[in-house]
Amino acid sequence: MTHRALDPNLKAEIQTAAQILRAGGVVAFPTETVYGLGADAANPAAVAKVFALKGRPATHPLIVHIADAAALAHWCRAVPPAAEKLAAAFWPGPLTLILQRAPGVIDAVTGGQDTVGLRVPAHPVARALLTAFGGGIAAPSANKFGRVSPTTAAHVKAEFAEGAGPEQILDGGPCMVGVESTIVDLSGLPSRAPTLLRPGGVTKEQLEAVLGAPILVVGVPAPDAVTPGVDSLNTALPRVPGTLESHYAPLADVYPVTAAELPMRIAALQKEGIRFVVMARRAEIQNAEACQGGTNDRRGGGEGCGPGQAGIPCNTLYLALPDDDAEYARRLYQLLRDADAQGFEAIVIVPPVAAGLGLAIVDRLRRAAGGSR
Ligand code: TXA
Ligand code: MG
Repeated sequence: MTHRALDPNLKAEIQTAAQILRAGGVVAFPTETVYGLGADAANPAAVAKVFALKGRPATHPLIVHIADAAALAHWCRAVPPAAEKLAAAFWPGPLTLILQRAPGVIDAVTGGQDTVGLRVPAHPVARALLTAFGGGIAAPSANKFGRVSPTTAAHVKAEFAEGAGPEQILDGGPCMVGVESTIVDLSGLPSRAPTLLRPGGVTKEQLEAVLGAPILVVGVPAPDAVTPGVDSLNTALPRVPGTLESHYAPLADVYPVTAAELPMRIAALQKEGIRFVVMARRAEIQNAEACQGGTNDRRGGGEGCGPGQAGIPCNTLYLALPDDDAEYARRLYQLLRDADAQGFEAIVIVPPVAAGLGLAIVDRLRRAAGGSR
């Protein structure tokens, strides 16, 4: 993954942030996935502040961000060969490994479990902060519990009331990946195979290629599912940490639908008089309008779909999503936030195919939809 070089203007701010961490304070910082709300992972009082700021239940463990794979030995009891392989292939990068925790790791971080989540982030600001601080930084995504993760510094600022947020927010620009890290549980090795707990920036296919074996999947849509039918989604989920049904949610109700279901869903919401926005790829929008037989009076058109295209149902507001999954992931949370900012009550969205990075997007949309019904 390519990244901008570290902005030299940020060097002094990063030193200040490291001092805040040493003093037991909380700082928000960019990673390549989403922004994190960081505290000294060895300081229970500092970690408690993160939970308080986020409004997060204490039983939900935090990921510890470390400077490099060499630091793994400090945090976990043993480093299995699979962890070494995955770390060598994907760190720094959007991958979190769950391992048996070392005896010294504090309960505040692990939620009292005997495992710990570890990740080496790739963003230059996160890396510089880890180097300046010298220890592990426990950090969840820098949003209020259950809400959409922030992918810009402005999102983080908007998440907290004035004076009630982190002591500092480091601005590293928009996040390159845009969805949270892939989480792989290796804590059951050798008896339990590596298990994918959350799909993310590193794909299941990439993990399997490096491990040379299939990995187990829990709480994640089947890779061959095109789009999740909400019913099948909400029942089959095991309650493992990090897989709450309603999560990553905007204020608006989220309706993931297949492209084929679009016209029906649009018609139903119009009938209910709900203020909604449709997010789909350009071709999917065009197909939907063909099915609707073509209408008029389109208001608030989305980017790239100029006026004059016939067929979008009357009064439907729509937005064209990127065809490319990486770009889709990068922009997804901003789009969900924008929909909230514009006061939409519902978002009808066509997820990508649930494979590769698309699996992470489908997963997040499914969780965003979890609170909608
Ligand atoms: O990309 C990311 O992972 C971002 C950036 C900031 O690094 N962080 C992030 O953290 O998404 P958070 O706390 O929002 O989500 C981490 C998830 C949580 O759902 C948590 O329950 C799970 O990881 N988790 C952490 N430690 C775990 C453990 N020991 N066992 C199982 N799940 C764990
Ligand atoms: Mg989160």
